[in-house]
Amino acid sequence: MATLLVIKAHPASDVISTSLTMGDRFIESYKESNPQDDVLVHDLYAEGNIAIDSSNLNVWKKLTDGTKYDELTPDEHILISRQQLLQEEFIKADKYVFINPMYNLFLPSKLKDYLDIVCQATKTWDYQKGGFLKDKIALHIQSSSGKYHSSDNPDMLKLDMGDHYLRMILRQIGVTDVQGIYCEGLNGQNPQADLQAKQAAYRQSEELGQQF
Ligand SMILES: Cc1cc2nc3c(=O)[nH]c(=O)nc-3n(C[C@H](O)[C@H](O)[C@H](O)COP(=O)(O)O)c2cc1C
Repeated sequence: MATLLVIKAHPASDVISTSLTMGDRFIESYKESNPQDDVLVHDLYAEGNIAIDSSNLNVWKKLTDGTKYDELTPDEHILISRQQLLQEEFIKADKYVFINPMYNLFLPSKLKDYLDIVCQATKTWDYQKGGFLKDKIALHIQSSSGKYHSSDNPDMLKLDMGDHYLRMILRQIGVTDVQGIYCEGLNGQNPQADLQAKQAAYRQSEELGQQF
């Protein structure tokens, strides 16, 4: 039995969203094909603050300076425990799915915040030894108005810095098998083309859900 960890990073999970629909199609199909697996889903924008901020840095400094865990304040305990749970869950999972719309050539900010929490040096990788999380696989599901992954214009690929960053940080922690499904060119200028692109991406998501 495997654990699939799904990370949704969309600010408006109640609207009709291409990336979330792709994600949902993938998850439904995955569950049908793998009924024995655990599927854990995080909706980062609905779950409140998960980020490195001054409170975090203060607690980390306290612990580094020798403060015992039991001497932390109740609020600091809550903060650290939540992060530890997220890290442990991430480390234990076998497969990851990251779902987001592209924002300004990058990932929505809460996905970066989440990655900052779970991909910490010493927990998931070491500067000398490399990544600790071997034998895991990941999938990036993303929608965008522009076309970045088309063979027609390979120069565009380097502008998808979110996908590139995600692949690089995953590689850093040891996850090298990363697939992508990109629904692109959704700029509203040709509704028929948009519809076709979405239908193809939804189909691709369902198909990969059966094999992932
Ligand atoms: C704040 C913001 C920034 C965006 N930046 C980009 C961008 O840099 N490149 C791009 O191709 N599309 C960009 N888009 C368009 C979305 O990525 C696109 O509409 C996507 O299909 C939305 O996915 P969704 O239906 O899941 O919300 C941006 C949209 C918003 C709201």
